[in-house]
Amino acid sequence: MSVMGQVFDVSKGRKHYGPGGGYNVFAGTDASRAFVTGDFSESGQTDDLSGLSPTQIVALYDWLAFYQKDYPPVGRLIGRYYSENGEPTAALRQVEEMLAEGLRQKAQAQAESKRFPSCNSAWSADSGGRVWCSTKSGGVQRSWVGVPRKLFTPGSSGSRCVCVQSDDPAALTNPALQEYEDCPSFAESCSVKSL
Ligand code: HEM
Repeated sequence: MSVMGQVFDVSKGRKHYGPGGGYNVFAGTDASRAFVTGDFSESGQTDDLSGLSPTQIVALYDWLAFYQKDYPPVGRLIGRYYSENGEPTAALRQVEEMLAEGLRQKAQAQAESKRFPSCNSAWSADSGGRVWCSTKSGGVQRSWVGVPRKLFTPGSSGSRCVCVQSDDPAALTNPALQEYEDCPSFAESCSVKSL
C-alpha cells in the first residue's frame, strides 16, 4: 500500500489489509485522502489531497510516520507524488508546504492554549452554569489562577471561556477577550446563563 507515494509492505498486517479486513481498501493502492476523511467509498479512495486543511495534512503525516515505523518501505509510486526517476513532484512540494503551515498552526494553537487555558466549567439544574479558573484547567498546570474571559475566535461562531492572567495587561485589553456580564472584573468564578 502507498501513502503519499511511499510504498510499504503491509503483509504482516494481513488481518487489517487482506481480503475481508476492515482496511482492505488501502491495499494495492494509494488512498491517502481516506486516512483523514474516513471516506472509504470508491470516490473517497484517492491520493488527491486538494481542498484538505493544513491540520488534516498534519494528521496524514502522522499516519505516514506510523507506516514508516511499523512497516518496511519498498519503494515509491510513480504518479502524483513521485516522477519516473523517483524525484518528488510539484504536487508533493505543495503538500509539504501545507504540512509546514499545519505545524505552524498547531504550534501557535499550543502556545495560545498555554497563555489562555480553557476554564473549568460545571452545570447544575438549580444554580445554572459556572465557569472558573484554578492553577489547573484546560489541561494546563500553572503557577497562576487567572480570571475567566470569553474568547472570540475569528471564523468560529460564539465564544469559549479561557483563563487570563490578571496581571497581563495586553490580554486584559485584547478585543477578542470579553468579561462575563454580571461578574466582577477580577473574580475567579462567574455564573453564566449558558455554557
Ligand atoms: C478515519 C477513520 C479511520 C481510519 C483511516 C483508520 C485506519 C486504521 C488503520 C490503517 C488501521 C491498521 C493499523 C495497522 O496497520 O496496524 C486501524 C486499526 C484499527 N482501527 Fe481504525 N481507522 C479509522 C477509524 C476507526 C474507528 C472509528 C474505529 C473504531 C470504532 C477504529 C478501530 C480500529 C481498531 C480497533 C484497530 C486495531 C485493530 C488491531 O490492532 O487488531 N478505527 N485503523
